[in-house]
Amino acid sequence: MMGNNVFRTLLGAGAILAGLGAAPLAAQTGSGAVPLGDAARGAGLWEQECAACHEMGRGAENGIGPHLNRIFSRRAAGLDDFVYSGSITRMGRDGLRWTYRTLDAYIENPYALVSGTRMSYAGLPDAQDRADLLGYIRQFSDMPEDIPEAEPTARRVEIDLPPEVLAIRGDREWGEYLASECLTCHQRDGAAMGIPSITHWPEDRFVAAMHAYKEGLRPHSVMQNVARRLDNEEIAALAAYFATIDD
Ligand code: HEC
Ligand code: HEC
Repeated sequence: MMGNNVFRTLLGAGAILAGLGAAPLAAQTGSGAVPLGDAARGAGLWEQECAACHEMGRGAENGIGPHLNRIFSRRAAGLDDFVYSGSITRMGRDGLRWTYRTLDAYIENPYALVSGTRMSYAGLPDAQDRADLLGYIRQFSDMPEDIPEAEPTARRVEIDLPPEVLAIRGDREWGEYLASECLTCHQRDGAAMGIPSITHWPEDRFVAAMHAYKEGLRPHSVMQNVARRLDNEEIAALAAYFATIDD
């Protein structure tokens, strides 16, 4: 299945990476653009952080985690022969695709992007580490030249919420007031009809999930609209309320 393809891809990637002067791209994509990561350094990070669960390259197979060949532009939970969690399967159905931006967010904090993921990995907090790692992983994706350059280079830190946002202490009573809208869909006592349970979550995870909708990282359009109407204080208030809803 892999065979020559991967080697062709590797050669292609090398040529592309070599041809990518950071400066012209940064100029093209405007502010916030950073150069692609250092794939050689990324290879070391891959061994350290991911290789225990994932395989990549010629003959890669599924292990504890799915193989990650051609992960760029693959749909989330897109392999037929791997049994994924319900949570990531739902995100894939919603339309989540793996791009530089969504991979970066998932690797930074898997739970912020996919609340119930089975990938038990704490996350890679350093942005440069992630850029280097993704520079390496990208070499195993089909035809890296098909990947829009603006995507890998125009990188904003999305779910890396500023400490002041995470530090907001939610006003539980206000949260209770705001929650009446949410409870038209989300059941107080758990999941129903494909609508997941949002009660008794750690507050930081709840806040991260809401911001992931707000920033469009999570694809579900109804929830994106819900989250975009809420400001940071309101999200914190809702997190405080739902965390302790029956207490
Ligand atoms: C402890 C094992 C483990 C580690 C370590 C781990 N993963 Fe995973 N990974 C998984 C599992 C299990 C899944 C399936 C998730 C699910 O079903 O919710 C997964 C899923 C993924 C997916 C989604 C694949 C798809 O087909 O949609 C990506 C991308 C991914 N991991 C990347 C990484 C990267 C990059 C690293 C290293 C920084 C890493 N993972 C570290 C176990 C792991
Ligand atoms: C019209 C119905 C509807 C309303 C109203 C609604 N939600 Fe949702 N919500 C959903 C659906 C459907 C999903 C699953 C979306 C997905 O697959 O990402 C969801 C997902 C979520 C998630 C992520 C759950 C997970 O397991 O990943 C959170 C958190 C959340 N909603 C919070 C809220 C809050 C807070 C409100 C009120 C301000 C709210 N929702 C209002 C339908 C709704």
